[in-house]
Amino acid sequence: MEEVVTKSEPEKGDWKFTDSGGVKKAVKPKNLNEITTHERYRIVTDDNELNRVLGGGIVPGSLVLIGGEPGIGKSTLMLQIALSLKEYTVLYVSGEESEQQIKMRAERIEYNNDRCYILTETATNNIFRQIELTEPDVVIIDSIQTLISPLIESGAGSVSQVKECAAELMKFAKESDVPVIMIGHITKDGSIAGPKILEHMVDTVLQFEGDRQMTYRILRTTKNRFGSTSELGIYEMLGSGLRQVTNPSEILISQREDQLSGISIASMMEGNRPLLIETQSLVSTANYGTPQRSSNGFDLRRLQMLLAVLEKRGGFRLGTQDVFLNIAGGLKVEDPAIDLAICASIASSYEDLPILPSVAFAAEVGLGGEVRAVSRIEQRISEAEKLGFKKIYVSKFNLKGLDPSLFNIEIIPNGKLEDVFQNLFN
Ligand code: TYD
Ligand code: MG
Repeated sequence: MEEVVTKSEPEKGDWKFTDSGGVKKAVKPKNLNEITTHERYRIVTDDNELNRVLGGGIVPGSLVLIGGEPGIGKSTLMLQIALSLKEYTVLYVSGEESEQQIKMRAERIEYNNDRCYILTETATNNIFRQIELTEPDVVIIDSIQTLISPLIESGAGSVSQVKECAAELMKFAKESDVPVIMIGHITKDGSIAGPKILEHMVDTVLQFEGDRQMTYRILRTTKNRFGSTSELGIYEMLGSGLRQVTNPSEILISQREDQLSGISIASMMEGNRPLLIETQSLVSTANYGTPQRSSNGFDLRRLQMLLAVLEKRGGFRLGTQDVFLNIAGGLKVEDPAIDLAICASIASSYEDLPILPSVAFAAEVGLGGEVRAVSRIEQRISEAEKLGFKKIYVSKFNLKGLDPSLFNIEIIPNGKLEDVFQNLFN
C-alpha cells in the first residue's frame, strides 16, 4: 500500500482556492428545472474521427482521458487537434517534452494555430495560474502521469499523485466549463498506475490503439457520459501526422493479386459504421503435443468454440491441427457477425482452397452449427455492395422483411454451416 502524505496548507494557486477571489464558493442544491445543459453545444473539431468517438464533439466542462501505449501517437493526435481548433484558444501542457520538441512535431504536422499555447510545466498550481492568465477554451494535458500536485508528497506517476491531479483538473473543468483532455500512458498489460484508476473519475475514456509497426491507428471509446461507446475512429500515421481514414473498408482488406486460401471478408458494424474486414486463418498439422490455437484481434475462447463447431458440425478434423487467426489492420473485433467469415477462412485454409475475393460474410454461428441472424443486415449488405462484392452469405433468418431485388449483390441465405460449405469452394 502506498502511504499518502498530505501537506498541511494548500498553496495559493491551486484551483481549489482560486475561484471567486480566493474564497471557495459554497455549492447550493438546485431545482432540476433550473439547471441548463450544454446538450446542443459542443466544440466541433476538424477531426471527424475524434468528433465521432466523442459523440459529436468536445463537451464543455468535460474531462476526457485518452489512453494508449507509449509511441502510439497520442501526443501527435492531441497536438494536431490543438492546432486545428482555430477559433479557440488552446493550452497544451506538456510535462514530457521540451518546447523545441513540440515545435518540431508541429512543423511535421504542418498545422498552425496562433491561438495555441504550449506550456512545459508539471506542477498543477503553476498550470492553474497559467490557465488563469491565458483563459483557454480547451486544455490538453500531456500526460497525467507527469503532473505533480503540491498537496501530495509522493512522486509523479504514483497512484495518489495521478488521482489528486486528475481530481484537481476535474474540479477545474466542472467549475470553469473548460474541457480538459488528459493523455495517459498504459503498458501492454495495462498495469501501470494511471488510466485504469482514472477511468471511473472521467467523463470519457478514449483508447488509442494499433500496432506500432503498422501505420493504422484506432481510436475507440470505452466510456462516454455524452455518447455511445461503440464508436470508432481510424487514422493512418504518415510522416506528416495522422490522417483520418474516411473509408476504412479499403484499408482493412488487403490488395491481393492471386487468390490465397485462409482469407475471408466479414461485413461488420463498428458502432454505427459498417466495415468490411479481412480475417486470415492458417491451419497446419500440429507436430508436437497439444495443437496451438492463437488469435489476434478475436476472442480466443470464441475461436475455440467455433473450432469445436466446425469439427462436430462441419466434419473438419481440427483436433490435430494448429490454428492461427488474425484480424487485419490490428483491429479487435467483438461483433458476432464475424463468426461466419472466421469459420469460412478456417475451412478455406484447412482445405487449401481459396474463397473468391468478391465474396463477403455476415452471420453469427451458434453451437449447433446454425447460421444466425445479425443486427443491421441491410447496412452490412449495402456496404459490401458499395465496395464491389458480388456475393454475401447471410443467415436465412435475416431475410424476413428484406427485399433482395433492392441490392445489386447476390444474397445467399444459409440455415446451417454445412449449407455454406456446400457451394463455397468450386
Ligand atoms: P507520439 O505522438 O510521440 O506518441 P505518444 O505520445 O503516444 O508516445 O508519436 C509516436 C510516433 O509517431 C513516433 O515514433 C514518431 C511517429 N510520427 C510519425 O510517424 N509521423 C509524424 O508526423 C509524427 C509527429 C510522429
Ligand atoms: Mg507523447
